[in-house]
Amino acid sequence: MPNRKISRPPLELIDIIYQVANIVKLKDIQYTIDFGCVDDMDSVLGDVFKVTIKGYCDNQVIKRNFIMKWIGEPGRRSAFRSLYRRDFAFHKFVVPKMLETQKRFQIIEGLRMKFPNCVLSSQDENKECIVFTHILERGYAFGDRLCKIDFNHCSLVIKALAKLHGLFYAIQNVDKEQSELLKVFYEDDVQYSGSTPTKNCMFEFYEKSVDVVNDPIAKKKLYNHTKNIFAILSKCVMPDRFSTICHGDCWINNIIYTYKGYKPIEVISVDYQISRYASPVTDLSYFLYMCADEDLLNDHYERLINLYHKTLAAVLRECYLDVNDVYPEQILKQHLKKYSVLGLIEALISLKIITAVSEEAIEMVKMRYDIAEEVNYDGESNNESLFVKRVNGVVNDFFRRGYSLDDVLE
Ligand SMILES: Nc1ncnc2c1ncn2[C@@H]1O[C@H](COP(=O)(O)OP(=O)(O)O)[C@@H](O)[C@H]1O
Ligand SMILES: [Mg+2]
Repeated sequence: MPNRKISRPPLELIDIIYQVANIVKLKDIQYTIDFGCVDDMDSVLGDVFKVTIKGYCDNQVIKRNFIMKWIGEPGRRSAFRSLYRRDFAFHKFVVPKMLETQKRFQIIEGLRMKFPNCVLSSQDENKECIVFTHILERGYAFGDRLCKIDFNHCSLVIKALAKLHGLFYAIQNVDKEQSELLKVFYEDDVQYSGSTPTKNCMFEFYEKSVDVVNDPIAKKKLYNHTKNIFAILSKCVMPDRFSTICHGDCWINNIIYTYKGYKPIEVISVDYQISRYASPVTDLSYFLYMCADEDLLNDHYERLINLYHKTLAAVLRECYLDVNDVYPEQILKQHLKKYSVLGLIEALISLKIITAVSEEAIEMVKMRYDIAEEVNYDGESNNESLFVKRVNGVVNDFFRRGYSLDDVLE
């Protein structure tokens, strides 16, 4: 599906392209439009475009690539409006404040957070769009959801999460007024409460995962909680005094790496549309359970959690704060026990799709987003063994650590 040229682009999209050309000072432009996602599965909705603009700047011909997120179909545009607004607010207000904070404290390079470069964004009704510089042209590459993630790739993401969380803790501590203004964008739970566009079919996906759980006791507990999964998820993202801004959807398809040889050396994450104000553990458990397999969890979980806390401490130290005041290790441990259930449930809902080969994943995404008439999927999977292995890896890890399924409901 991606890399199919779009020969008759809608006028609204052309208008956005000319606005972008104007911003980056390209004149007499020509452009081509492709679907923008690396993974076919992400392209199902067809709302992300890769646009190449060629034009003149100071009499020189320049070619630039952009990612444009814009929803053409009015029904879906209105269904996804709150998510667009979240993405907009993150890039328009949160990122500049975070960059300013990094500058103000002269945070050292290795502890600096990098963000996608947002060129244009609009939250005007029916004109919602958000445009980024295409990162792949700067030598970055996406991971592959079907490949095993190793410790090096994992640790870079864990560090990036610590930097993101730490920066907002710093803003909260040094600029209370600003942080209150930013927190306003995060008041609604755009994901789990109310009628979100992705809610249908989630129970079915969850149950399909529980069906393949080997441990009978865990299986029974998970079945018994089926009806509660949204209540649990919703409680997990309720703010408390240790909350910070979290990515919300930190998994392999939203993470871009740069490499030195074969070694990953840096990450940038994209897709902040469900960023939220919640416990850091909501991000940690989501990332680890959506992306890591049982071997990695067995061998490196504690090391990764320690790395997270050490990196957080280092970022806070740069801002003259003490991690023991802001987010003590003891609280992190308590949060892991209480909020890791978010990562578990999200993984159980998503692993069927994440582990599916492209064609099947596309059909399942259609189910998930209710594009039901077109669905051509009977529930059988070509990648069943990977799916079963990943589900059991996550479930075993969760129960082995004594984490709680329903403490959040108390
Ligand atoms: N700045 C970027 N540079 C390169 N590719 C990007 C960029 N932003 C997004 N993408 C690609 O587009 C896909 C979809 O974008 P994303 O922001 O994740 O939206 P969605 O909500 O549709 O998942 C990503 O998974 C990635 O393949
Ligand atoms: Mg995404």
